[in-house]
Amino acid sequence: MIKKITKCLFPVAGYGTRFLPATKAIPKEMLPILTKPLLQYGVEEAIEAGIDTMAIVTGRGKRAVEDHFDKSYELEHQIVNTSKESLMYGIRNIVENYTFTYTRQVEMKGLGHAILTGQSLIGDEPFGVILADDLCYNKDKAVLAQMVALYEKYPDKCIVAIEGIPKEFTNKYGIISGVEIDKNLYLVNDMIEKPEPKDAPSNLAIIGRYIFIPEIFDVIKKTKPGKGDEVQITDALLTLAKKEKVLAYKFDGVRFDCGNVDGFVKATNYFYERGE
Ligand code: G1P
Repeated sequence: MIKKITKCLFPVAGYGTRFLPATKAIPKEMLPILTKPLLQYGVEEAIEAGIDTMAIVTGRGKRAVEDHFDKSYELEHQIVNTSKESLMYGIRNIVENYTFTYTRQVEMKGLGHAILTGQSLIGDEPFGVILADDLCYNKDKAVLAQMVALYEKYPDKCIVAIEGIPKEFTNKYGIISGVEIDKNLYLVNDMIEKPEPKDAPSNLAIIGRYIFIPEIFDVIKKTKPGKGDEVQITDALLTLAKKEKVLAYKFDGVRFDCGNVDGFVKATNYFYERGE
């Protein structure tokens, strides 16, 4: 029987230096697009994918995250039966019906290391990962839900979301190359973290959505620091790709890079114009 994916890991330990001073005391994932923090968009996407447990890898400055996904008795008391109450329905539903677990990444040693830090929250199960500063949206089927559906077809493989990007930006992303085995689906045979355009095997960039099989943890443990002297999840995945265990999926939807101001403003305008 296929193991169902019930957990999603959210690495939120980064410094968010591109948004200073806003991120001095709060994580960048708590910055709002309109009235909702980026991380809540990510959590809602995970819920749409059938996930019930959010495993959050935090760092310093985590309090805002824990407080957000908790009951605020004082606030509830203040707004009960007022016109403002409806603004709380979404977050209240999340807090009441889903589980949040936390662990802290003490040293920032890369995304691979952050994911490994979450092992104690995940256990020996397949799981999703959402990088909340990549804001993905599809009104009919959330991107992670699309990937969970694929996982059910290919339960022995890891899956990364990809998007075609202009070649000059390859040094901002993990880049894959592979063989197209189905529409929008590639069996990955190479992947490189942030290559210069001349070294990039394609223009297919990894976006912050992943499905992992539990084997990934042992592979990360054996992965040496790479680009930027950090343990890169892209390098760990390459080990599995060599065993034909990684798929890349060109997802259906829009994506905003909210890790920089330009993308953040674009996302804000997009959701404002849609009235969401
Ligand atoms: C991380 C990954 C990279 C991926 C990107 C997606 O990089 O290391 O492979 O393409 O997320 O957003 P970061 O943006 O954290 O530097």
